Parts: sequence; structure tokens; C-alpha cells
Amino acid sequence: MISEEEVELKVDSLLKELSLEEKFKLMVGYFRFQTNTIPRLGIKTFKMTDGPLGISQHSSFLRKNTYFPAGINLAASWNRKLAHKCGEAIGREARAINRLCVLGPGININRTPFNGRTFEYYSEDPYLNKEIAIPFVKGIQSQRIAACPKHYVANNQETNRHTVNSEIDERTLYEIYLRSFKEIVEEADPWTIMTAYNRVNSEYVNGSSKLLKSTLFEKWGFGGFVMTDWWATRERDIAQPTTEEAVKAGLSIEMPIPILYEKTKLHKAFTEEKITLEDIDHLIKRILKVYAKVGMFEDEKNLPKGERNTKGHQQLARKISEEGIVLLKNGNNLLPLDITKMQKIAVLGPNLKKKFGKFLSGGAAAVSPPYEITPLQGLKEKCKGRVKIIKDPSKADVVLLFMGLNHDSPSSLFSDKTTKSKEEQGNESEGIDRSELGLNAFQTQLINETVKTNPNTVVILINANPVSMDEWLDNIPVLVEAWYPGMEGGRAIANVLFGDVNPSGKLPLTFPKRIEDSPAHKSTKTFPGENLHTHYEEGIYVGYRHFEKNEIEPLFPFGFGLSYTTFRFEEVSSDKNTLMSIDDYLELNVSVTNTGDRAGSEVIQVYSDDVKTTVDRPIKELVGFEKVYLEKGETKSVKVIVKSKDLAFYDVETKDWKVESGDFILHIGNSSDSIQLQKKITYKS
Ligand code: BGC
Repeated sequence: MISEEEVELKVDSLLKELSLEEKFKLMVGYFRFQTNTIPRLGIKTFKMTDGPLGISQHSSFLRKNTYFPAGINLAASWNRKLAHKCGEAIGREARAINRLCVLGPGININRTPFNGRTFEYYSEDPYLNKEIAIPFVKGIQSQRIAACPKHYVANNQETNRHTVNSEIDERTLYEIYLRSFKEIVEEADPWTIMTAYNRVNSEYVNGSSKLLKSTLFEKWGFGGFVMTDWWATRERDIAQPTTEEAVKAGLSIEMPIPILYEKTKLHKAFTEEKITLEDIDHLIKRILKVYAKVGMFEDEKNLPKGERNTKGHQQLARKISEEGIVLLKNGNNLLPLDITKMQKIAVLGPNLKKKFGKFLSGGAAAVSPPYEITPLQGLKEKCKGRVKIIKDPSKADVVLLFMGLNHDSPSSLFSDKTTKSKEEQGNESEGIDRSELGLNAFQTQLINETVKTNPNTVVILINANPVSMDEWLDNIPVLVEAWYPGMEGGRAIANVLFGDVNPSGKLPLTFPKRIEDSPAHKSTKTFPGENLHTHYEEGIYVGYRHFEKNEIEPLFPFGFGLSYTTFRFEEVSSDKNTLMSIDDYLELNVSVTNTGDRAGSEVIQVYSDDVKTTVDRPIKELVGFEKVYLEKGETKSVKVIVKSKDLAFYDVETKDWKVESGDFILHIGNSSDSIQLQKKITYKS
């Protein structure tokens, strides 16, 4: 890896050579996913590709690549190592096709179950969000490929996504929506960041000195460059920032073509002295630094070798799916299915044979893999020669129903307006939000009729957002959440259903019973907004923070997920009981036993409760977790790190993060509402 010193030297020498004209050229995209070149100085095009789920087809000349499970599935694994491996593999695939930047991870907070892009994002909780994103970014960049966390910031809905104004109070903005960006910048050093389409408190981020210059650069020390989302700066109903505002704020590259940074506009701003050479150099330095880090100026022989569509990557895709699948209900311990004891299984449902890895399915993040194992194919492989697969539920030992949501690319992807045709209801995709929490009438009816015919009915959901289940959940014995499981999904699902894999996924978001229970849905003012303003009235009470404060019983709580075995959390100790500064941390040791009759993994979750505070604080907030694998009967003492900074709130008085001196109760359990141990600690600053 090139040293920081070498990077600085290279950047300084290039900066001296570049003319003003050439600098302007570097500040804009050159068609689709590339930037301009300056051949005389060895500055090549910086090719990018969409990437949260793998190398996307539409940004990589229609290439076929490994299709990993959706971001929400990765987060449901609660497995940092897998997130790192996933980032690393995507980085390798990018390198294999000469891309230098992966446009991911998507780290917007899941504020509403109607958001069309929930599948790309990780969680309603900023802690889980950053804990998955940090290793993912490090994994990508270990291949000397730039990661690009997006969309900075408060891009939490698709309705009117180019013009909507997210109105958020200062504390909430920092504590919930900016928090993961900050942590990722500080801990993973991403080389680029993409701004959001929407406005935040009436300002477009591309022209916001507050959000870019003061926050991202000065407060957090972000060293990479900022680029726009695609066509974000196009003229629409709401005025865009001026060229000088964007330059002064710190926007380095406008994608995919010049609008604000059109040559004549830049020249005009420069001659009128609205922008200086120093301003321009600041943006260019950031760009060149990243170009040096990805190895643009080095002999390719010395750079990491790329590879794609390898067996290893495909197995990793399956492993992520397996670890992210969440068992939500298992009446009569119907699962796992014993292949030796059955003759016939019936399989049905709209998502049984559906493939999701296709051009623009779900939007820009879509990946087209060389193959995709559907649930039906996965089951056929598993049952071959042993169990017959049929369609008639009345003749089967067990029925498997594959339900969920649509994931097609909506027409609104290509226009500025969020249109919703009838067929697009129930769709979850970039460019469109959902408008109903339930499954469609056909699916509800199919579930209820099937279970009447055969009580051994298992419902498997393929979707990203929570769905309501009041019309059918009580009628069925078993429910499995499989998310969008990627190219090996069918095999992963079959492995879980038949017990080759013991499920260990946990919900990264709360499932509400009714949409009115969800924090963003108090009124149309709070979602999807009125007159292009969405008021984040719930403040910091997003996700489980809201359900707990308002004592609303969720359908399934945050962090929840069953296993085929059982675990007991026996005792907790810590290396110290007092934290002395914001940089301090402690180690909890939680002893956990697998009390069931098969091996499995459990997630130890730690939530903090600030006992006495001068500000309003949530009842509980996730501050640590660890996933552990235990053989049957095995006990392990599991180390979970809790950092002071994760106990902090954003103090609007001092405009900084603060932990108040006093006691904290750490609640330790296997979901936000199943706490088994507690430990009191003290913070003394
Ligand atoms: C999306 C981004 C994506 C970009 C390039 C935009 O529509 O919002 O997430 O990276 O397109 O495809």
C-alpha cells in the first residue's frame, strides 16, 4: 500500500502541473460512471459501479457478477466478519472489471417500513448500522478500491426523493441520521462519500457548508472526496445550490455530467472571484489523493488482483443468506424438517420461482449473476431422490409458501415524479415507496386457504420491509424471514428449513403490527410529507426507541430471532465498572450455554440505559453485540466491548457528544425485549 507521504508528494506534484481548465475537467463526471482523464499527467478515468449487493450490471457494461444478499440480510446476520468478507469480495469483483470505486454501502436509517430502499440499507439503529458498515467499507478498501457510503444524509424515503425536505431537529440529525456516517468516517476512513438527493432542513447537501465543510471535513476529519448522487443537481421545482455554494461547501465531483460544474459556470464564478484557486485546489487535492490510494499511478502488477464469480464468492453469498435468515415463529417445533420422515412437500407462492438478480430489479443496486438458485431449485436439489415435491397442499406432509413483496424497477426510477401505477403497489424498489403494510389480498387468501387445507404450513417471506400479518399470523405455525437472499438464496433457504443450518439471524428493524404504530406515520406531515416537507417529528425515537417509549407492542421486536436450539445467558462480569472518558471502553464477559440439543449461534445484545440524565433519553439503546457459535451443551464466556462514545447523546448546547457522569444499566439479552442479565456501570468524566 502506498504510504501517506507518497500520496502527498504525488498529489502536490500533480497539482502544480494541472491547469485551471484541467482542474475543472476533473470535477465532473464523464458519462454514466466515469470521470474525465488527463492523459498527459497519467490521470486515468475513475470508473465506478453500484455496489451494496455486488457489482451492479447497469454500471459495469452489463457484466454478470456475484449477487450477494441484500444489505438488510447482511445486517440481520449481526456478523461483522461476514460484513468484512462481503466488502472484500465485492472489492475484488470491482477490481476484476477495472472499477475503482464501489458505490456503497447504503447506510441511511430505516425510518419507515414504506421506504422502497430498505433492502439496500442496514437498520433502524445507528449502532448496528455502523457496526456492519465499518467492516464492509474496510473490506472493500482492503482491495484498494474506494468505498462510497451513501446517501449523505437523511435520505429516508423515495417519494419526491429529488426535492423533498427532511426537516429534522439538530439532536436527532446528529444522534440518529449522521451518527453512522461519523463513525464510519472516523473508524473506516472511506475514500469517497455520496450526497443525498433530498434537502435537509431546506438545504441541498451539495451546497451545504454546514453538512460538508463544517461537519464532514472539519469536525470528523473526512479525508476523501464528496460526489453527488446521479443527476442530483438537475434543475427541478426547487432551486439547486449555486456553483460557488457547492465549491465552497466542498463538493468535489458532480455526477454523471456537468450541470453546476459546467465549465462556463466555473469560469464565471472564478473570474468574479466568488471562488478562489485555493477552493478549487482543496477539491482537487481530495480527488487526487483517492486516485493515488486506488493505485491509479502505480504499475498494475503491484495492485491487488481481482476475481469475480468464484466459487468462494458464491459460497460467501450463501453463507450470508443463511446467517441472515430470521426464524420468527416455530409452532410445535415444526422446523427443522426431517428429510428422513417425509414423503411429500407442497410448494407454492408468488416468490417460489422468482429471480431478483436482474437488470434494474430494485433499482441501481440490481446485480445480474451468472445464475440464481430460486427457492424451488434449492428445494429440488435438497429433496432429490428423497422427498417428492408437489403442488397440492392437501396431499403433503408439509407445505412451504413463498410470499413477500415485489422488487421490480418502477417507472419512477427514470423520472423525477413518484408515480405509482396499480401494478406497482406493494413494490419495494428505488424510486418508489410502498403504501400498504400488508401483503396483497391474493397472498393473504392463499395463506389462509392453504393452512386450512394443511395445518403444517410454513410461510417464508422474501422481502426487505416489515409486513403486517394480523390477517394470517395466528393461523400459521411457522414463519421465516428470508429477505432478498442473493444468487444462492434457494440453497440457503433449503439448508435452514431442513436443519443443515441452524438459523441465527436477528431482526435489524422492528416489525410493527400496524403502520400507525410506526414512528414516522403519525400523519401525512411525518410521512410522506406535505408540500415537499417531511417532518421528523418522532425525533430520536426511531425504531425500537419509539415502541419502547410509547409502550407499543411490536409484532416482532428489534433484535428478535429464534433458533432450533435454546441458549441460557448465565452471568456477566466486566474488566472494570467505571468508564473514565469518552475514549474509554470496557469488556463484558457474558457466559452463555447452549441448552438445547443441537449446535447453533446466538447474538448477545447489550443495550444501555442512562439512569439519570438531564436530557430525554431512550429507555434502551444498543451499544454492543457479539455472535457466538456453541456446540450442544457447550458454555462459552463471550467478550462484548462497550465503548463510552456509544453511550453518548448529542448535546445541542455544546454541539458535541456527551456522556453525563452517573450510572448506566447495561441490559444483556437476545433481543431488545428479552433481557436476561443486567450490569451496572458508572461513567465518571
Ligand atoms: C442512486 C444511487 C446510485 C446512483 C448511480 C442513483 O439513482 O440513488 O444510489 O449509486 O443512482 O447508479
